[in-house]
Amino acid sequence: MCGIIGYIGAKPAFPILLSGLKRMEYRGYDSFGFRVLDQNKEPFYYKKTGKISLAAPELLTMNVEGNIGHAHTRWATHGGVTDCNAHPHLDCRGGISVVHNGIIENYKDLKEELRREGHLFVSQTDTEVIAHLIEKFFDGNLECAVKKAISYLRGTYGIVVISKDDPNKIVAARSGSPLLIGVGKDEFLVASDPAAVIANTKKVLYLNEGEVATITPENYFIFTERQPHEIEWNVEDVEKGSYPHFMLKEIMEQPNSLQNSLRGRLVVEEGRTQLGGLKSVEERLREIDRMYIVACGTARYAGLVAEYMFEEYAGITTKVDAASEFRYRKSTMDRKSAVLAISQSGETADTLAALRDAKSRGILTLGITNVVDSTQARETDAGVYNHAGPEIGVASTKAFTSQLEVLALMALYLGRQRQLSNVMGQRIAAELAAIPDLVARTLKCDPLVKELAAKYKKCDNMIYLGRKYNYPIAMEGALKIKELAYIHAEGVAAGELKHGPIALIEDGFPVVAICPSDSVYEKMISNIMELKARGAKVLAIATEGNEEIAQIVDDVIYIPKTLEMLTPILSVIPLQLFAYHVAVARGSDVDKPRNLAKSVTVE
Ligand code: AGP
Repeated sequence: MCGIIGYIGAKPAFPILLSGLKRMEYRGYDSFGFRVLDQNKEPFYYKKTGKISLAAPELLTMNVEGNIGHAHTRWATHGGVTDCNAHPHLDCRGGISVVHNGIIENYKDLKEELRREGHLFVSQTDTEVIAHLIEKFFDGNLECAVKKAISYLRGTYGIVVISKDDPNKIVAARSGSPLLIGVGKDEFLVASDPAAVIANTKKVLYLNEGEVATITPENYFIFTERQPHEIEWNVEDVEKGSYPHFMLKEIMEQPNSLQNSLRGRLVVEEGRTQLGGLKSVEERLREIDRMYIVACGTARYAGLVAEYMFEEYAGITTKVDAASEFRYRKSTMDRKSAVLAISQSGETADTLAALRDAKSRGILTLGITNVVDSTQARETDAGVYNHAGPEIGVASTKAFTSQLEVLALMALYLGRQRQLSNVMGQRIAAELAAIPDLVARTLKCDPLVKELAAKYKKCDNMIYLGRKYNYPIAMEGALKIKELAYIHAEGVAAGELKHGPIALIEDGFPVVAICPSDSVYEKMISNIMELKARGAKVLAIATEGNEEIAQIVDDVIYIPKTLEMLTPILSVIPLQLFAYHVAVARGSDVDKPRNLAKSVTVE
């Protein structure tokens, strides 16, 4: 990938362009080039093979005037490493100048057509085609010509364009290659990397996909070419229908919402996924070795499940932060890191703030959200939609299980990019494909859960216990009963019980133990015995067919067997229903619990 920088402002452009290139040399260093506009004479135009750091001493002796310019350090994609192939590239008349990061896939066809129209090419690059395409549409207004030209491009580009015939501006456009605007004092910079602008300003704004920016010495204007999209929901989706509450409706429609989240994304026989929303960053994802997940509330618990998934199946070190805490971290992120934001609404202020913090550091940003074209969807470099349908109940249910499912798809995607075998991929894909039916089977526990809710509705305190993949589900179950029935509950890692929380246990103390037949089952049984020895009342979530546990605990709700990493999608269902029925029994406003809001758009 190449380094791009543009400058427009009160100071001489050349020294700033030179120091910016030096800071981006790591992005590509087989050649470099400059073009600086000077209203008193011909533009300064210089480009050469070699490293900018080695050429800098000679360059600094050059007397280059003019306060508008751009520069580029190249990592060759099309055309050899030669002075001629270095950027910037010009049009026939030497008026328009382009620097580019990315690959234009249809440049050959465009070049042929432009040649037929009389354009003369001097380089072997794809970038030069952009300069001549802009020339073709140029009628004195540079941004209009750029907007027309980019509509013909296929591939990826981050471009910075200047012209001596419309000299008092810089035009930038991005699709697939990041570009940011640095907002300084009486000056603006445009770059592909924050490292290039940090000496002048820390105030940056990343262009979104498809945006075109016009930057003058006084201000910048961003043009967004956004087409309206078709809302995939129907009016029935936002009505309760025959259900007493949206929350119950949304719990019960999870087989359908989970089917929708999977649609078109699984290739079971090949043990792989296809996630179109990650295509533009596919190669960068192959390189990452650390994933930072940022989210709030229930979405964060989905991230905590993914922490185990990504490490176990993709071998990627994963760290989950409450989005509101992420900004306090001393960043250890680097170019092999990615930040993944998870948000049902795509509008949660804390999550967006964390995302923007990551973007300002030039870190690859990914997102999972349930709302098409939401702020998060527009601000991440790439992402995956849940397609779970509108979630009206304030307490997140179907969005949460959809997040777990999409995260499992991402774990499979990342794993297959790495060492995950075809056989294991097929196993995961087959188990994922069966999830909607297994959830439908799990929902048959509703009458039993409603009965049990009557037994627990007078509790003031509860502990939820889980280990490994189900520890986050213990926290999610506790959150559900808190936010719906206003019962104080705590999700505890079962191994942590004896390090303090067990002091709370007394005769009749209610504990929910998530205890499927998985790799930590025996340890969970030991914890349950410790609880029973102290008089606790234990409600277990266990795997169908496990008769042993029914002899040990007070109540059992069974879930079907599945892959350990997918059990959270099933084990959370009884906990959603349990919280719902306890809340109804206690007279809470289930769809609008006190003090809460569906989308927390304030920090
Ligand atoms: C979920 O039951 C809660 N209402 C809350 O924790 C929610 O998950 C959190 O506010 C995050 O919302 P988001 O997914 O829209 O970002």
